[in-house]
Amino acid sequence: MAFINVKNLRKVYRIGNEKVYALRKIDLDIEQGEICCILGTSGSGKSTLLNMLAGLEKPTRGDIFINGVNIAKLSERKLAKFRQENTGFIFQSYNLISQFNAIENVGMPLMFKGMPRSKRDKLSAKMLKLVGLGERLKHRPNQMSGGQQQRVGIARAFVAKPKVVFADEPTGNLDTKTTDDVMRLMVRMCRKYNITLVLVTHDLEIAEYADRIVHIIDGEITSIENNVSIYSPDAEEKEQQQSQNNNIQENREDSEQ
Ligand SMILES: Nc1ncnc2c1ncn2[C@@H]1O[C@H](COP(=O)(O)OP(=O)(O)OP(=O)(O)O)[C@@H](O)[C@H]1O
Ligand SMILES: [Mg+2]
Repeated sequence: MAFINVKNLRKVYRIGNEKVYALRKIDLDIEQGEICCILGTSGSGKSTLLNMLAGLEKPTRGDIFINGVNIAKLSERKLAKFRQENTGFIFQSYNLISQFNAIENVGMPLMFKGMPRSKRDKLSAKMLKLVGLGERLKHRPNQMSGGQQQRVGIARAFVAKPKVVFADEPTGNLDTKTTDDVMRLMVRMCRKYNITLVLVTHDLEIAEYADRIVHIIDGEITSIENNVSIYSPDAEEKEQQQSQNNNIQENREDSEQ
């Protein structure tokens, strides 16, 4: 069975006598370590699907297996524990705690795991350095730019090394350059720790970072395409090789002088 296996998933919202068929019949497999993008227009059911995969909402019908566990059938208590141990979530609106500084925000998932303060501060600081915020450890969200806040959000999602990270329009509030930085960062983290990423967007350019693109229209998957991610392992390796060659070149030039 695939790492994530979705079978006959349906979600119907009822408002009075009205029914909204948000998801009609979703079947989907996602492999471990895959970067999977769910692409569709506004109202197509992307967030509904993602929230159910992440265990934030219960399906009306169907099964969602993650790592062999059917999360659609778990009790609230077991589901909360499962989420804590296996998943991270990145929100469009960052969802940081305003009274907490960067280190404290990133350390939240570790706190829930019962890790002592000193250890979690150390890990959080390391993670913040990795996302380029080593100089902003004590800053609170309102003392940071949008791109910086989202990088705190990313550090928080990855700090506990979950098996899967879910992201709902994570770059929706960012400019083009910052979007590229943030996307590269997420892809690099996933590759580094073999973490699965399920990413929701309406933006075709964002989808280009994924290994697979799942098109959704009106609550139904219409097609799935394989994609060569902009920052695939091959591309990364080439980049590293090139910078190594450059270093060798520079060293040679140094010693020649
Ligand atoms: N809590 C709710 N109650 C009733 N209807 C809902 C609820 N949440 C979503 N819907 C409906 O389900 C459909 C899918 O909504 P969803 O939020 O998943 O779309 P989306 O693809 O994420 O859109 P966007 O890109 O605008 O975020 C929409 O028609 C929406 O109106
Ligand atoms: Mg949405």
